[in-house]
Amino acid sequence: MGVRILLYSGKGGVGKTSVAAATGYRAAALGYRTIVLSLDVAHSLADCFDHKRDLMDTNRGNPVRINDRLAIQEIDVQEEVERNWGEVYKYLSTLLNVTGLGEVVAEELAILPGMEEVCGLLYINKYVRENTYDVIILDCAPTGESLRFISMPCALEWYMRKVFTVERNLARVIRPVVKSVTTIPMPEDSYFAALQSLFKRLEGVDKLIGDPKITSARLVTNPEKMVVKETQRAFMYFCLYGLCVDSIIINRIIPEAVNDSYFKNWKRSQSHYVECIEDYFAPIPILKANLFVDEIVGTQRIAKLADLLFESGDPTTVLYSEPPYRYTKSGGDYKLQVTLPFIKKDDLEVHVAGDELILRIGNFKRHVPLPRALTNMNPSAAKIEKNILTLTFGDSKHAKKKVKI
Ligand SMILES: Nc1ncnc2c1ncn2[C@@H]1O[C@H](COP(=O)(O)OP(=O)(O)O)[C@@H](O)[C@H]1O
Ligand SMILES: [Mg+2]
Repeated sequence: MGVRILLYSGKGGVGKTSVAAATGYRAAALGYRTIVLSLDVAHSLADCFDHKRDLMDTNRGNPVRINDRLAIQEIDVQEEVERNWGEVYKYLSTLLNVTGLGEVVAEELAILPGMEEVCGLLYINKYVRENTYDVIILDCAPTGESLRFISMPCALEWYMRKVFTVERNLARVIRPVVKSVTTIPMPEDSYFAALQSLFKRLEGVDKLIGDPKITSARLVTNPEKMVVKETQRAFMYFCLYGLCVDSIIINRIIPEAVNDSYFKNWKRSQSHYVECIEDYFAPIPILKANLFVDEIVGTQRIAKLADLLFESGDPTTVLYSEPPYRYTKSGGDYKLQVTLPFIKKDDLEVHVAGDELILRIGNFKRHVPLPRALTNMNPSAAKIEKNILTLTFGDSKHAKKKVKI
């Protein structure tokens, strides 16, 4: 078996860490070399495993062994930034210093949004390249940051392809001029070299994340109105970024056996939302876990959660693998179909710019590099039907840059 990457995302508090821990524990028990990687700055993975340590004790983000086959790792962003971002970090903190922010503040601020995510991606690539693990489980931060994580490979790829060389050359030309008129530092070429080498270390990670046989995203949810809504949105954005969601996990279901009248309404509304979830997300498989009598702490409870979710099965099995983006050719026409569940026509903008397609939903935008066969064509038609956006690329006489759906 090649490497498997499982990514758990969802709203804060729904049970991502518990489910990620349960998955890791079972995978290790089945003999896979497994790591659970926490990308949430508010780490709770070690606590979930009841790993003893002092409150302020950190191990600088290194992996910790739980048993022979299982390791956990809580990424320490500050540490990683210093380790991985040498020149980039130095440039940013100098810039912040010069612009009047003290050094300490600058150090804090030098952790720009997105750096945690990049650190996570670096580790994934490193572990895959070095074949350290069979299974890599990502315990993600709540939905918003998870989306930043999954959009990062596309954004970086786009930046390197479209902006990087232009900026580097521009900096070369104007650096001497700028130096003579202002004290604000221009990035040295070493900054660009550092970015480039960082990018090299990230190369290929987009392929790993976008391959449904390697990476499956799993959305953890609770049967409650607000949580379900967020799960629907997350599902749509995961599809936008080309990730395959292979299951929805409904956690914290009050067990049948609870008959206390206090929970009567809770139970009724929960069973309503369980039905809604089954209805909304079909045909994506759904896994369920009850609300335990206590918090999920320690390997015994973690193992019990794995029993509820996976019964006696293998948690690394690909449960669904239909990719969100599909290209087809019929006659002289090429078609791109994108599964975008829950999307309304007015929420989506579609543009074509040269060799790429730009899809925008709300604040999220994806640059999709087009296959070579399509780069000289523009879409002549676009429609949304049953959750699927279909773009037809054909005769360029009817083509438009901005595509009306
Ligand atoms: N099925 C469950 N039954 C009881 N407690 C749970 C269950 N799932 C999660 N918890 C508890 O809820 C809290 C939040 O869960 P956690 O897995 O940390 O969520 P997240 O990672 O999504 O923020 C933790 O204290 C955890 O032990
Ligand atoms: Mg968590």
